[in-house]
Amino acid sequence: MQALEIQKGIYWVGAIDWSMRSFHGYQTGRGTTYNAYLIIDEKITLIDTVKELFADELLARIQSVIDPAKIDYIISSHVEPDHSGALPFMLKHCPNAKIITTLPNGEKGLKGHYGILPYQGVKAGDTLSIGQRTLQFVPTPMLHWPDSMVTYCPEEKILFSNDAFGEHLASSQRFDDEVDSPTLMYECQKYYANILMLYGRQAQTALKALSGLEIKLIATGHGVIWRSHIPEIMAKYQQWSSSENEERAVIVFDSMWHSTEKMARAIAEGFAQKNIPVGFYDIKENHLSDILTDILTAKYLAVGSPTINNQMMPTIASFLCYLKGLAPKNKKAFAFGSYGWGGQSIGLVEEELKACGCEIVLDKIRLANVPTAEQLAKITNQITDL
Ligand code: FEO
Repeated sequence: MQALEIQKGIYWVGAIDWSMRSFHGYQTGRGTTYNAYLIIDEKITLIDTVKELFADELLARIQSVIDPAKIDYIISSHVEPDHSGALPFMLKHCPNAKIITTLPNGEKGLKGHYGILPYQGVKAGDTLSIGQRTLQFVPTPMLHWPDSMVTYCPEEKILFSNDAFGEHLASSQRFDDEVDSPTLMYECQKYYANILMLYGRQAQTALKALSGLEIKLIATGHGVIWRSHIPEIMAKYQQWSSSENEERAVIVFDSMWHSTEKMARAIAEGFAQKNIPVGFYDIKENHLSDILTDILTAKYLAVGSPTINNQMMPTIASFLCYLKGLAPKNKKAFAFGSYGWGGQSIGLVEEELKACGCEIVLDKIRLANVPTAEQLAKITNQITDL
């Protein structure tokens, strides 16, 4: 295992997790990386570690550059175990190292996860001289946990951003211009939607704090290092965090005997007639994390469920629970569905959409049994009239 020098004296020493397919429910079809960086200066500094399972890989990459016992500082940008899991292991190999973490949340997190470890707390504006270079600490609470921070090195113009600007993408390439661009941007959007959508306000605050910095590299905690497309990913974060939606619609539904599905198709036809692109998701065939990726920037959201045992389908309940947690903003939504008798599900879906913060722009569409051609045409017309 070799380190990769990304800039003179600064090395990527992380781990590639080719096989990971789930990050607590978020489907990570392309695996991920846990990025750590080693800075060789008067004080040797390691920025972040890796998931515990990959501690040996981290150690081997560090050993390809220096004796780990020489490490003076380990910056803990974020206590989530995908970045800090190998901290106790590393401290055995660098017994003189001190952990740098935010106050009070990083301190609390380290104690809560690992007991007492040698640490030094930092706050916004604090700097650390490591010799020829300086490290400036910028707390970014809730991107992704309360303890999160990014570290800027002005002499190198590198931002070590941890979770921010990252994506779950395992690759043998380390830089943004070495991987397929549409795939990279899709994975970034998926990452933001599933990990950071809830924290748009905090992301806006972080973007403001970073806006004055001259940045040549963004060395992320996951996926590739940005060097060629920094303005593009910054612009995307600006769009996503300000909940700027595009003129698009997402339709999510489950169906027992294809009646609710027919309604979904009639809705899609209505949007198509308005020249509004549609994302069409039969929930049985699509993963929540992919659906949320599309919802992130869509203006319209239609959610359909037949009625089962006086309730909505559990698949749709699960989707709405996930949606509510991520708190999408500025969505124009409505509920639809067919039923045999009772028909409670459609009202329940509408109530949940309201609880998610959506604006209901069309009264719930309920149809008994199998929709007729006339009923479906009426649905299409309702959408074109929106
Ligand atoms: Fe990559 Fe929130 O940890």
